Formats: sequence, C-alpha cells, structure tokens
Amino acid sequence: MKLKERMVTLSRPVLGIETSCDETAAAVLAPDGTVLAETVLSQREHAAFGGVVPEIAARAHLAHLPDLAAAVLERAGLRPADLGGVAATSGPGLIGGLIVGSGFAKGVALAQGLPFVAVNHLEAHALTARLPGLVPGGVAFPYVLLLVSGGHCQCVLVEGVGRHRRLGGTIDDAVGEAFDKVAKMLGLGWPGGPALERLAAAGQPTVALPRPLLGRPGCDFSFSGLKTAVAQRRADADPADLAASFQQAVAEVLADRADHAMAACPAARVLVVAGGVAANARLRAVLAKAADRCGFAMVAPPPRLCGDNAVMVAWCGIERLRLGLSDPLDHAPQPRWPL
Ligand code: KG4
Ligand code: ZN
Repeated sequence: MKLKERMVTLSRPVLGIETSCDETAAAVLAPDGTVLAETVLSQREHAAFGGVVPEIAARAHLAHLPDLAAAVLERAGLRPADLGGVAATSGPGLIGGLIVGSGFAKGVALAQGLPFVAVNHLEAHALTARLPGLVPGGVAFPYVLLLVSGGHCQCVLVEGVGRHRRLGGTIDDAVGEAFDKVAKMLGLGWPGGPALERLAAAGQPTVALPRPLLGRPGCDFSFSGLKTAVAQRRADADPADLAASFQQAVAEVLADRADHAMAACPAARVLVVAGGVAANARLRAVLAKAADRCGFAMVAPPPRLCGDNAVMVAWCGIERLRLGLSDPLDHAPQPRWPL
C-alpha cells in the first residue's frame, strides 16, 4: 500500500506503550530517537501455566501500565503536556492487552490534545534497526528483514514506513514457539528460549536432526518436524547435546532461508534480524556469516531491544508522525494484523 506522506517536523518527545503479549512496557524517546527513559515489566504470572494466559496478561497490563507510564515520564523529567504524540501497539497480539494499552494511550492523547499512533507490533520490530543510536544514522531502506519471535517467523523486504513485501513465512510453528516447546520438553521452564541457549552452550551439536525445507526454493519455514524429532531423541540423547543440536538445526535453516531472501532482493544491502529470538548469540553469528557470503551486512538490535519493548513502539510512532501519519481515536485494536 502506498501511503500519502508529508514530512512533518516533530519537536517534542513521544511516549510508546507495548502490551500485545506478556510484556508491559513504556518508553519516552526524543524526536531524534534518543531514549529518554524506558521500562519493561516481563509478567511472571504465566510461568506456572507454561505459556501466556490472555486473561491474566490483560489484567496485569491494567494493573501495571499506569505506574510504568508515569515512571518513565518522571525519569525523563517530562509532564504529559510536554509530549508531541502517543504511540501504542494496536495489533497483532492478544486482544485484552491491546485494548488496555491502546485505550490508555488514547486517553493520554485525548487529554493532552496529542496525535495517537496505532502501531503494528511487527512494524515496530522491523523499524528498530533504524534507531539512529544503533547504526550511525540508522539502517536505510530498503532492507531484508528476518523477523523471528514467539508469535512470528517471516522474511520481509522493508521498502519504507508502511511499505513491506512479504517474501515467506512459517507454514506451522514460529521459531520462538519451537524454542519454547523444545525447552519445555527438556524441563527448562518457560519462557524457554534463553534457558535453551544456556543449556546448548554446555553441549555439542552431535545429535542428528532434520533441517526442514533446507535447500528448497523460497523463504518459507517449518519447525514442527524438527520439534517432533527432538521429542523422539529426548530419551536417549544428552540434554545439552540435544539443545545444541536443535539450535544448530534452527541456525542452518534460518541462514538458508535468509540466503534466498537476500538473493531475491538485489536492491538491499542489509539483513536485519529482529524479534525475541534474534537475542540468541549463536543464531546471530550464523546469520552474520550468511549475510557476509551474500555481500550483505547484518544488523540486529542489542538483545535488550530484540524482545518486546516500548522503545521500538515509540520509535515506530516517531517514524510515522514525521511522515504526517497518525490514527483516529476510534481506531480498533486488531488481534490479526499482517504487515
Ligand atoms: O519478540 P518477543 O519478545 O515476543 C513476540 O512478539 O513473540 O519474542 C519472544 C520469543 C520467545 O519464544 C522466547 O523464547 C524467544 O523469543 N527468545 C529466544 C531467546 N530469547 C528469547 N529464543 C532463542 N534464544 C534466545 N536467547
Ligand atoms: Zn514481538
């Protein structure tokens, strides 16, 4: 979709709110992307259930968000009246949390007469690489994005704000979901990605596991067969070796899919890896090599900005507000909202 754009000078800070899953987060960024204050509360209430319970998540956002938002404003030395806009994740995600976060942001916008930006969570992950503090000046369009998180796994050509071309995606599980399920099989608790990475560091990738779709044309992914293979080897393999083997299989598959995506986008020069799974050091190393082989540079946000956070939401708000883009206060949050 081509958006009607009009460059606007933004002179005041933007408040960002993230509540789409189990992180309650708020951040204030200066118009140039400088982070003035940020906070992320990872809800621990879900651990006992082995996964996010939507109703519990929504109630926890409701309980914590007002204090978190007030705290970031205070730390930034700002009052709501000093803001230039409010941005909130408005999809995709769990509808209860989206209603809490976007409703709160709309309330601030209404009270202060500020523009409201309904942020697509996937676009927020996608644009994090453009934060000026990350790469001098931020990554320029177009770039190839490998978005790997708990709910999403896709390759996208990012051509501009609101301008994306999907190159491929998972046909079953998201890669973070596969990490979480394998971690659960190995008794590592939840969320499992970071724990699985730690266990893998103590093992060797010696267990033979499949590499789903490796070498096939295109940029689609599949992880359910790999997950089943891990379940079948659980009884006879050393857990650390099994974790290392799983991680290695995922790394090879992601690198192969990213190879195809880069080959399909000769106008791009940068591979951006984003989403919670991009925090994984082994995956980052393998993907950096794959990018190098294709003549691309790999850029991944620091691990703290890979998982869900409000810095990326505020930044997405800034990118949109600069183009004169904002949303009406009756904008409805959307549980499903593809890029
Ligand atoms: O982006 P994110 O915070 O939430 C979604 O939008 O889904 O991603 C969370 C996912 C979880 O599945 C978590 O296990 C995974 O990212 N993750 C990791 C690592 N850190 C987080 N996976 C592998 N290695 C990690 N170090
Ligand atoms: Zn996310």
